[in-house]
Amino acid sequence: MKNFMDLAEKRYSCRKFSNKPVPQELVDQMIAAAAVAPTAVNTQPFKLWVMASDEAKETIRQVTDYSFGANNFIVVGARKEGAWTRSFDHHCFAEIDAAIVATHMMLQIYDLGLATTWVGYFNAAELKKRYPQMKDYELIALFPFGYAAEDAVPAPAHTKRKTSEELAEIL
Ligand SMILES: Cc1cc2nc3c(=O)[nH]c(=O)nc-3n(C[C@H](O)[C@H](O)[C@H](O)COP(=O)(O)O)c2cc1C
Repeated sequence: MKNFMDLAEKRYSCRKFSNKPVPQELVDQMIAAAAVAPTAVNTQPFKLWVMASDEAKETIRQVTDYSFGANNFIVVGARKEGAWTRSFDHHCFAEIDAAIVATHMMLQIYDLGLATTWVGYFNAAELKKRYPQMKDYELIALFPFGYAAEDAVPAPAHTKRKTSEELAEIL
């Protein structure tokens, strides 16, 4: 079994893709990885949309400048209705749950030898207009994914990390 840190360090935001087709079984495995993610009180208040048709892919390209030449897209939505809400402060955990799911999927993508970038900059309102089934969801992530282009490289920001001392305080 590989060390988790190997996978975590291998991941970077890939912004250039090859046009090599992604087998359906790999997409199925991505969805399977999402399905086993933990969610608060196991409510699983999320939905994934595989944007598979030519029309769906074209719509994605219209709602964001960040499709990076990819030919495969998945959208992640969080649904407040049915999600766990903490009684002390009425905090709804739907988006947190969906972000855990999205992170599972993102790491699975790299474990399968594929690449992606978590894209938040897209016109969610426009996407919902075109796909009414997304209406009741907060669209928290768009993943353009596929095989990385041969000359794809991490952006300089990839290695700019706060130190452990800055990030973690021992109390
Ligand atoms: C919630 C979230 C939203 C993001 N949105 C975008 C985006 O819209 N466009 C983009 O190019 N990168 C986006 N990123 C990627 C980040 O810029 C990237 O993760 C960060 O710069 C660190 O680089 P690395 O992923 O290569 O380690 C997003 C990442 C996260 C977690």
